[in-house]
Amino acid sequence: MSWLGDVDRRSPSLASHRATTAHLAAAFPFMASSELTGRGVLIGTDLGGSPFAYDPFHLYEQGLLTNPNMIVIGQIGRGKSAFVKSYLWRQAVFGRRAWVLDPKGEYGSLARAWGAAPIALRPGGDVRLNPLELAGRGDPDGARRQAELLATLCSACLGRPLFPAERAAADVALVDAVMGCRSQATLPAVVEALLDPSEQAASSLRMSKSQLAREGRDLALELRRLVLGDLRGMFDGPTTPSVRLDGPIAVLDLSALYGSDALGIVITCAAAWLQATLWNSTASAHTIVVVDEAWAVLADVAVARWLQASWKLARALGVANIAVLHRCSDLTAAGEAGSSQWALAGGLLSDSETRVLYGQAPGEVGAAAQAIGLSRTEAQVVSHLGRGTALWKVGNRSFLVRHRISDLERELVDTDVAMQAGLGGENL
Ligand SMILES: Nc1ncnc2c1ncn2[C@@H]1O[C@H](COP(=O)(O)OP(=O)(O)OP(=O)(O)O)[C@@H](O)[C@H]1O
Ligand SMILES: [Mg+2]
Repeated sequence: MSWLGDVDRRSPSLASHRATTAHLAAAFPFMASSELTGRGVLIGTDLGGSPFAYDPFHLYEQGLLTNPNMIVIGQIGRGKSAFVKSYLWRQAVFGRRAWVLDPKGEYGSLARAWGAAPIALRPGGDVRLNPLELAGRGDPDGARRQAELLATLCSACLGRPLFPAERAAADVALVDAVMGCRSQATLPAVVEALLDPSEQAASSLRMSKSQLAREGRDLALELRRLVLGDLRGMFDGPTTPSVRLDGPIAVLDLSALYGSDALGIVITCAAAWLQATLWNSTASAHTIVVVDEAWAVLADVAVARWLQASWKLARALGVANIAVLHRCSDLTAAGEAGSSQWALAGGLLSDSETRVLYGQAPGEVGAAAQAIGLSRTEAQVVSHLGRGTALWKVGNRSFLVRHRISDLERELVDTDVAMQAGLGGENL
């Protein structure tokens, strides 16, 4: 324990004061923190002007984090996406690869800067991803995960939990679809199997074929939305062969669905396909998977539960997940304290040991303080943060970090073009 001398011996008007470094750290939480490890990509500067570097994989190796996942929370326009883009750009320089689910279609210039075109998913478009693609080689639990994903999609499409008979109907339809498809099960094959189940499927549940078809009928009609309805042509067949994820950055542009009530379903399908691809990947590089605008996923309990389960796989897959949200209350939007949604939000937070908090509206600070466990000083600080400055909670350490953007990166992160255009843009 080190003792500090009198704060100011020269000033006769000020009483002298002695304190331990532990007390000083409590009084000035961000100024008295030592650096993390100094390893990782440079994010910016801390309150004292020292460089702040971060790498979740290194911190995990050092035992300073027990999981590599991150949640980024902040009001509109505070710089959340700008931070994520420059972070991915800097990580790619060191050989990390990044996969982004991009609901606003704003990561395209980042992908192009690395020589990769963003993969644009839109109803009736050219690109299909198969969310039921089985993670063959690497994943011993692939079949169970495939069944869970199908149940999640059914429940999200119906907007309610499945009844036991419906869950069983989905399970046996998946088995029928796998047997009927020579390569991979697809959603159209599942819909077909739900509408017209096999004798074998019915007898495995001690039902007649017509009984089983009745139990699965609502599921089939709702899943048709992804096959023949407004969401057709994105997830209703084998993955388009030209889709490749071997570059340093791959961006799935979901902007055609931004604002749609189906965004959560679309993100889930895309994330499921990414996950299967990760299990099958032989690349040794660590991967960072970003879900920007993740509130769309958390609004639905079934989808949020699926996301949380996939968050837990981070260590097994060598992945660091990042979810970007507007408010802590996004995490609990559909649930009261004590509800399953509340518990899910808590689970997602405890599976994300790095929390990056940008400015919060005064009315949101209480929820943030409660969910993330902010001290009184931290809670006061987050309601006054300007654009580009965030409170970083890394494990049990806190840092106030000003994110610095290079001139080169500025073009990649700018989302103010429309605002500036409306005001006369560069001429102002
Ligand atoms: N650290 C920074 N330094 C300078 N400019 C910044 C910084 N961070 C963000 N900006 C600028 O602020 C604008 C808004 O940033 P950004 O799009 O990242 O906000 P956001 O928090 O993701 O907003 P939304 O919630 O709407 O997605 C961008 O044009 C970006 O260039
Ligand atoms: Mg953003």
